[in-house]
Amino acid sequence: MLKIAVLVSGGGTNLQAILDAIENGVITNARVEAVISNKKDAYALTRAKEHGIRSFAVSPKEYETREAFGEALLSKINEIAPDLIVLAGFLVILPEKLVMQYKNRMINIHPSLIPSFCGPGYYGLKVHEEALARGVKVTGATVHFVDGGCDTGPIIMQKAVEVEQGDTPETLQRRVMEQAEWIILPKTIDMIANGKVQVCDGKVVLEQEAMTK
Ligand code: GAR
Repeated sequence: MLKIAVLVSGGGTNLQAILDAIENGVITNARVEAVISNKKDAYALTRAKEHGIRSFAVSPKEYETREAFGEALLSKINEIAPDLIVLAGFLVILPEKLVMQYKNRMINIHPSLIPSFCGPGYYGLKVHEEALARGVKVTGATVHFVDGGCDTGPIIMQKAVEVEQGDTPETLQRRVMEQAEWIILPKTIDMIANGKVQVCDGKVVLEQEAMTK
């Protein structure tokens, strides 16, 4: 059984999608062991509590330096000892030590088709604002392994979403969540939990059966 730690910063709709997928059998062989937020008041923590899941806030505001915050976050995660870390809207730069320790065991959901609209400064609504400003007709979401860069790790799964006439950043964000994020994040976790994701030469190879499911 894959033990997951989910890291969040906000509303936690992706966390909810994971919890729902476990409950309705879309994700098998995995459980959410704990939820960690960098913000004490993140609604995602309430969602965790409602499901009887351990939840913690590790806030940078409570540490004198960024390094001290990084150490505290790493030690909390190591205490949980997850098999997989899921960044589900976790909008904090991670300490390198954490990234190295959890290489190929940490995934992130990003609300665009990487390599478009990603990298430093591209998070949340900003991604959709930039997609609309550029006038793209198709956008989407990406799940990838986390490496030392910003949104640069091996891509596991992507799903395209059409931009519609009159879209605002908010309507586009919602459609990308509904049609892509909440689908590919649980699907990826299920594949990892069932040993169907391999990394070869820095690229992800998916088992054929898993892709057609
Ligand atoms: C999601 O859209 C996620 O893709 C994005 O933050 C949102 C969190 O929403 N993540 C990033 O932009 C990471 N660069 P949620 O708290 O409702 O899941």
